[in-house]
Amino acid sequence: MILFLGKGACHFKYSRMNKKFSLKNKTAVITGGGSGIGKAISFTLASQDAFVHVLDNQFESALETIDHIKKNNFIGVAHQCDVSNIQEVNQVILEICKTSNIDILVNNAGIAHVGNIENCQEEDLDRLYNVNIKGVYNCSKAVIPFMKKNKNGLIINLASIASSVGISDRFAYSMTKGAVLTMTYSIAKDYVKDNIRCNCISPARVHTPFVDGFIKKNYPNEEKKMFENLSKTQPIGRMGTPQEIADLALYLCSEEAKFITGSNFAIDGGFVTLNSH
Ligand SMILES: NC(=O)c1ccc[n+]([C@@H]2O[C@H](COP(=O)([O-])OP(=O)(O)OC[C@H]3O[C@@H](n4cnc5c(N)ncnc54)[C@H](O)[C@@H]3O)[C@@H](O)[C@H]2O)c1
Repeated sequence: MILFLGKGACHFKYSRMNKKFSLKNKTAVITGGGSGIGKAISFTLASQDAFVHVLDNQFESALETIDHIKKNNFIGVAHQCDVSNIQEVNQVILEICKTSNIDILVNNAGIAHVGNIENCQEEDLDRLYNVNIKGVYNCSKAVIPFMKKNKNGLIINLASIASSVGISDRFAYSMTKGAVLTMTYSIAKDYVKDNIRCNCISPARVHTPFVDGFIKKNYPNEEKKMFENLSKTQPIGRMGTPQEIADLALYLCSEEAKFITGSNFAIDGGFVTLNSH
């Protein structure tokens, strides 16, 4: 479209009307996309026309996400994949790369553990390390060579408020999320010259099965009280929603955010900066 504004005036030329945050022709891989935040991110990216690959160790959940995406006339595929298993990760990534470039990787799969150092057993520590840290390592290591070859890529990691501040009884979880934050900086620094960007999102409590699961397991018969207590720890007075996290992820995945790398985005109802500890 060409707009003439009269003799001597500026004129603007548009080849097309831009749709903000469009992910048309982009391929995105979302780990742990079968539930909660990952499910919301998968659907949101698909609804902006990305082709989404949903990886989850619970294949049925990944299929449900893809079913929902397809019912709404968007596109994607479900994959069975345990992110802590490097062979499984390499196989799935290789399979995807046979037919398309991976533009976006969202390292979202993560697990929780409640406890301080005394009641965190070695196997709890290893389990959290394997999924929350090695999962990010495995998936990023698998996609980066392809992104390097394409001279294009974006990695988004799900960190947490626990990456930056002390949270009671979250010893193993905080250890892993601190590592997610620093892996983000490290990858961003090493690959900025290859046009690969890396950022992370640090939510406070978001109401997902992850939160319901740990309240049920760790505070039986006190679930309602704990839910209210956890809601109040955000100065804004509630937990976040998966969609709010997905909307931030969408922005970060879009062309509009292409100046951003090596950044940590708090989305926490004021948890980190407004709580007086
Ligand atoms: N919910 C919160 O309050 C909150 C806050 C801060 C950060 N986070 C982070 O956000 C991410 C998503 O959290 P959520 O609340 O949506 O969790 P969720 O439990 O609802 O979903 C996690 C998904 O990851 C999958 N998963 C778990 N282990 C896996 C593995 N080894 N391989 C592949 N998939 C695996 C699960 O099957 C599930 O589908 C996590 O990394 C979590 O640490 C969550």
